[in-house]
Amino acid sequence: MVLPAVGASLLLAGCTFEQSALHPAGRDAQELSGLTWFMFAGAVVVWAIVMGVTVYAVLGRKRRRTERFADLFILGGGVAFPTVGLAILLVYGLSLLPNWTSAQAPGLRVHVQAEQYWWRFAYELPDGSRVETANELHLPNDVTAEFVLTSTDVIHSFWIPALGGKMDLIPGRTNLLRLTPTKAGTYRGVCAEFCGPSHTFMAFPVVVHDADGYASWLAAEQAPATSGSELFAASGCAACHTIRGVAETGKVGPDLTHFGRRSTIGAATLVNTRENLLAWLADPQRIKPGAAMPGFASLPETDRAAIADYLMGLK
Ligand code: CUA
Repeated sequence: MVLPAVGASLLLAGCTFEQSALHPAGRDAQELSGLTWFMFAGAVVVWAIVMGVTVYAVLGRKRRRTERFADLFILGGGVAFPTVGLAILLVYGLSLLPNWTSAQAPGLRVHVQAEQYWWRFAYELPDGSRVETANELHLPNDVTAEFVLTSTDVIHSFWIPALGGKMDLIPGRTNLLRLTPTKAGTYRGVCAEFCGPSHTFMAFPVVVHDADGYASWLAAEQAPATSGSELFAASGCAACHTIRGVAETGKVGPDLTHFGRRSTIGAATLVNTRENLLAWLADPQRIKPGAAMPGFASLPETDRAAIADYLMGLK
């Protein structure tokens, strides 16, 4: 049961550094990785000095030192060196704090609402209206995106290591985070705050497009679904899920208007294939314990297959 999920996450994370803070693809991640390497280099220097002194103390020639040498050694090594070293690291670290006043205004605003255990993404359009989707984030390259972060249940944390971050989503609060991707590609975001049994199955692919790619993605996402399904409504799916243009009352679960275009099921728990979707529809709890979605094993198999085919066809 856990195997397909583990397989999916391995496949998704792979060896492509999709989820690596040390392979930055964004401005903030670049600064963070610079800071990390700088701190690491500093730690190596300190370690080498301490080891050198230790080895000298154990193996070095024994001879009597003056009291003045001892005082200078303690003041130099124990006070001056740490004070100067830590001050340099502190000033460098503080200089990297985000400075929004001088940063240019964000070119895009995405409202992110975390839920146990998935992500509601709503893209703000220039006229103020929003396009809602779920569990897969698409961003234009070289544009600063502002994320408006909220939660309705418990504390989650929004983290895309390759782009920068991270920031908590706290019930009753609105937090803001700005990220600027600098390299087109596919990355992986995760929930970085333990939020329940399926915390580990609360991830999302992040696709960074060039400007044209993003515009055409958004245009397609804005469009309503091109087909409806009586089974989808009759089986109860529409009570929780919206498919724009077809069934718009269900708001509890992820928006499925363009489900067939997404690469994963259940917030990056499974790869989006027909077989995985059938398994998910029959018993989501087996794959993702604690998920709010009920199982539909009681439906005739042919109905489940028809619903799966319908959803996969929502491109
Ligand atoms: Cu949401 Cu951990």
